[in-house]
Amino acid sequence: MAYLATPSPRYRKSYLAALREIKQTTAPTVRRPFARAEAARSFWLVDGGKYVGLVQIRVKRSSGVDPRLKNNVYYEIRPSMRKKGYGTIALKLALKMAHRIGLARVILVCRKNNVGSRKIIERNGGKLLRVVSVRGYPQPFLKYEIGL
Ligand SMILES: CC(C)(COP(=O)(O)OP(=O)(O)OC[C@H]1O[C@@H](n2cnc3c(N)ncnc32)[C@H](O)[C@@H]1OP(=O)(O)O)[C@@H](O)C(=O)NCCC(=O)NCCS
Repeated sequence: MAYLATPSPRYRKSYLAALREIKQTTAPTVRRPFARAEAARSFWLVDGGKYVGLVQIRVKRSSGVDPRLKNNVYYEIRPSMRKKGYGTIALKLALKMAHRIGLARVILVCRKNNVGSRKIIERNGGKLLRVVSVRGYPQPFLKYEIGL
C-alpha cells in the first residue's frame, strides 16, 4: 500500500532511478524533487519500499508564474509509474496531510491540457474556481479548491 514518507536515504536506489527516468522522459515533468523545497514540505510517495513520486504542500501559497496561480499542493509521479492510479492516491494522501498540517482548504492549479491532473483533482473533490489565462502560455490554467 502506498504511503507518504519523509525523504530518506532508505529509498535512495529507487529515487535515483526515478531521477534518471525524469531526465530521459519526453513526457511533461515539471519540477525536480527538491526544487523550492524551502518553501514547501516535501514528501515522497512510496510503495513496496520504492520511490514512486513527490508531494509538496505549501501552507503559504506560492506561485512561480502569476499571483493568480498561487497554490498549496503539487504532486508528480515518476514516469514509469504513471497511469496506474498513483497520482490519484498521491493527492488523496496529500489532502490528509494538509489537513493534519492545519489547512482547512487547499488551492490547486493545473494546465487545462493536463488531462491526468484534472481527473485527479476532480476525483478528489476539486471544485473549479476559475480559468486563468497567462500571457506567454498558450494553454489556460485551471484553479481548483478542495475543502478539507
Ligand atoms: C499528472 C500526473 C501526476 C498523473 O499521474 P498518474 O499516476 O498517471 O495518475 P493516475 O494514474 O491516478 O491517473 C488518473 C486518471 O488520469 C488519466 N491520465 C493520467 N495521465 C494521463 C495523460 N497523460 N493523458 C490522459 N489521461 C491521463 C489516467 O488514465 C486516469 O484516468 P482513468 O482512470 O479514467 O483511466 C503525472 O502524469 C505527472 O507526474 N505529470 C508531471 C507532473 C504534473 O503534471 N503534476 C501535476 C501538476 S498540476
